[in-house]
Amino acid sequence: MSKQKLFSAVTIGNLTLDNRMVMAPMTRNRAAPGNIPQQINVEYYRQRATAGLIITEASQVSPEGVGYPDTPGIYNDQQVAGWRKITDAVHQEGGHIFIQLWYVGRVSHPSLLPDNQLPVAPSAIKPEGEAVTYQGMQPYVEPRALQSSDIQGIVLQYRHAAKMAKLAGFDGVEIHAANGYLIDQFLRDGSNKRNDEDGGSEENRMRFLNQVIDAVFDSWDSWEVGIRLTPENSFNSMSDSDPQAHFHYFISQLNPRNLAYIHLLEGDMMSKARNVDYRALRDSYNGIYIANNGYDKARAEAAINNGDCDLVAFGVPFIANPDLVYRYKNDLPLNEVDQSTFYGGDEKGYTDYPFAEQTGETVQGS
Ligand code: PHB
Repeated sequence: MSKQKLFSAVTIGNLTLDNRMVMAPMTRNRAAPGNIPQQINVEYYRQRATAGLIITEASQVSPEGVGYPDTPGIYNDQQVAGWRKITDAVHQEGGHIFIQLWYVGRVSHPSLLPDNQLPVAPSAIKPEGEAVTYQGMQPYVEPRALQSSDIQGIVLQYRHAAKMAKLAGFDGVEIHAANGYLIDQFLRDGSNKRNDEDGGSEENRMRFLNQVIDAVFDSWDSWEVGIRLTPENSFNSMSDSDPQAHFHYFISQLNPRNLAYIHLLEGDMMSKARNVDYRALRDSYNGIYIANNGYDKARAEAAINNGDCDLVAFGVPFIANPDLVYRYKNDLPLNEVDQSTFYGGDEKGYTDYPFAEQTGETVQGS
């Protein structure tokens, strides 16, 4: 029998993960009013604790960081208490869990923000499309370009949230620097047209991310901090003039940080194009690389065996299969996913997907 690396343990800092299957961060919009994690969320994460590592859904670092209805935060005591039940449940099952720290920026909407304030961004560029709000879909507005003095305040919000994540019992944090949210808006030159110290050169565009890393390091060891990046995802009206070169720079700069990992959503979620050479990016990084976007068992095995990545994050398969690790290990069929229950709602399509034993499927062979 060939050795299946996907199911082999891996060490990240002081953590030993049981396998290389990561549950990708996924917005599910099922937090209680006040952006507070609640009991069904405990059950959802507990069910998926056999993942080598769970990365939570994106979670706001402050009320100003919000951008969607019913998404959890990690900035006040009630939220910490809600998350604590989740981290305890995952740990009881022998799992590990990082929280993804989020500040949405320009793709938020005044109706979601304190005092109906404008969303903020590096530059006053309105994204195409509509925001999801409690009053339905509403067109995006032109964001307010951040002043240099505002940026320091947001960095402090990350520092506070990182501290709260520690109190909530997480094993680490993932800085969400991807998918067109605030940090990514600074990194990519389609959304960052600043001509001060936070815009222009790669070094300047990375300044905000570097400040956030420093702030998070106030309460976490470097090997407890991961970063998610998306060089060519056009989701949220994002673009960049040279993703290969720019992300080569950003990733190379992360080397001396000794992070837990970098986590790349490869390709474009929208067009499905994949024009960046991810192997070259991977080779410019000397730490752990988590690959994500459309992987199945066969592709994940091949990518790990080729050295294209160290771990693979699975999204949709983990929504429909709480026991995805067991199913992949035993080559069992997967549950059908119900897309209509991805965002918002109750237990349906959230905690009611059956485990393999419940459907009567058995392990093939001996
Ligand atoms: C979403 O809510 O649609 C969403 C959130 C975070 C992401 C991507 C998409 O990184």
